[in-house]
Amino acid sequence: MKKYFVAITFPALIGACSNSAEKKEAPAAAAPTASTLSSNPDYQKGLELVAKSDCLTCHKVSEKIVGPAYKDVAAKYENTEENVNLLASKIIKGGTGVWGAIPMTPHAQLSEADAKQMAKFILLLRNK
Ligand code: HEC
Repeated sequence: MKKYFVAITFPALIGACSNSAEKKEAPAAAAPTASTLSSNPDYQKGLELVAKSDCLTCHKVSEKIVGPAYKDVAAKYENTEENVNLLASKIIKGGTGVWGAIPMTPHAQLSEADAKQMAKFILLLRNK
């Protein structure tokens, strides 16, 4: 008779526990936009090119080091085709005087397509 009682109450207790665990996990599912950005092919390809080149020795995404933070660049320039072209030509030719006196070295070996892809990645960081 005692055994029978345990067999009935045990599954009920387990049921109660797993229910409350599900409730605790629910808010995490509503996490914001990071995943949509990293699944954007323009973002992924641009990040790959930036990581393969020397960019990250002078730039970080959210902190100024030698060059401006990419987030600051994205905040300054709207994500338009015109600005992608402008920044791509800056990346290839180098530049100075926009963010301070330190010049950015030219990257003459980059193709225009790769430089544009890098600029697209940077401009996608606006408001991130
Ligand atoms: C030697 C250090 C250095 C390297 C390497 C470097 N940058 Fe820069 N970058 C700078 C500096 C310094 C500036 C600010 C130039 C200015 O004030 O006009 C800058 C500015 C920029 C800007 C903003 C240009 C503007 O006119 O607002 C972009 C975009 C950029 N860099 C992208 C890149 C990319 C992409 C790479 C890699 C291919 C790269 N940088 C490599 C130092 C560097």
